[in-house]
Amino acid sequence: MRLYFDYNATTPPAPEVVDAMVAASRDAFGNPSSVHHDGQRAKASLDAARSAVAGLIGAESSEVVFTSGGTEADNLALRGAAAVAAEADRRHVIAAAFEHEAVLNTVKALARAGFATTVLPLDATGILSPDCLRDALTAETAVVSVMHANNEVGTIQPIAELCAIAHERGAVFHTDAVQSAGKIPVDVRALGVDLASFSAHKLYGPKGVGALWIRRGVRLAPVLTGGRQERNRRPGTENVPGIVGFGVAADLAAARLEHEGARVAALRNRLEEGVLARVPGTDVNGARGRRVPNTTNISFAGVEAESLLIALDLEGIAVSTGSACSSGTLEPSHVLKAMGLSSHRAQSSIRFSLGVSNTERDVDRLLDVLPAVVERLRSLAPALP
Ligand SMILES: Cc1ncc(COP(=O)(O)O)c(C=O)c1O
Repeated sequence: MRLYFDYNATTPPAPEVVDAMVAASRDAFGNPSSVHHDGQRAKASLDAARSAVAGLIGAESSEVVFTSGGTEADNLALRGAAAVAAEADRRHVIAAAFEHEAVLNTVKALARAGFATTVLPLDATGILSPDCLRDALTAETAVVSVMHANNEVGTIQPIAELCAIAHERGAVFHTDAVQSAGKIPVDVRALGVDLASFSAHKLYGPKGVGALWIRRGVRLAPVLTGGRQERNRRPGTENVPGIVGFGVAADLAAARLEHEGARVAALRNRLEEGVLARVPGTDVNGARGRRVPNTTNISFAGVEAESLLIALDLEGIAVSTGSACSSGTLEPSHVLKAMGLSSHRAQSSIRFSLGVSNTERDVDRLLDVLPAVVERLRSLAPALP
């Protein structure tokens, strides 16, 4: 049996999600914009899903805009808020260095469109310091984007504090909450943010569906042109089955958040302590006290992480590297680099992210297999520092 420790990449849809999506595809096939019965039936399914997603994040239904995923939600947040702010001559965008590419590449696109941009450094534990943000803000800052929980190391940012600082200077604050929703409580009002991105497939929902929460009163220019769906903010006929699946996943996440969080944290700690005890030359990356419960990122000195990933895959165990492989070149993770790790350490780091199917037996099997695999790789590449 294969073991899956890559829940931050994606999660398997819950059986209840799949059932609801099948039923919605069959029974709620109408166009939600149609006035007849079939259209209104689909519209009712959308409304139910919207209120479930709103319930998970402490929002009102009318503030939730469905998108094609976290990437589109990030794009809509940054591009939409920047376009509105530019009308008032605010043309400066700030993001943290450890943001997902959906944010970082959008910031680059805004730079090409004439915005000034600042990418803020992190401290060694992967936390963005409030003083660092304070120093970067200007009267021209339009939008600040700082993710809630990081996908690679799991660190949780002091969003409420950062947001208050940005608001003092009149900037709109966006947080990418794709990796925190479903893992820790996310209350958008308590965080104080203006915009927050979510993705269904990170919380046992389907791929290709997400949401942007837009605080009531915040103005945003749509990124796509088209019809009047989603209160004129996101045109296009809604993905009804996908959104229904997202709603069911949100309800499940809300119901099992507390219990599952504690269960997974215990497993993650067992895994982490087991690795540190059994495999010499290992270190945990990122603040251990301020992380989502399911994630640990561990460096294995002298081991090339891609090779470890492949060796574990051959043993039937799925993990992830902190590195992105682009056009045949192994780039060290921008997150680990932003935390000040050397390229070597960044390239020897593995992310283990746990979820609903994992048990103590899974962790123990991993711990049985890992030391010998690491030792073998080290013996093959003794020159790596
Ligand atoms: C933090 C973060 N933001 C955004 C995304 C993109 O979400 P999606 O895959 O739904 O486009 C991801 C997914 O990897 C993510 O981890």
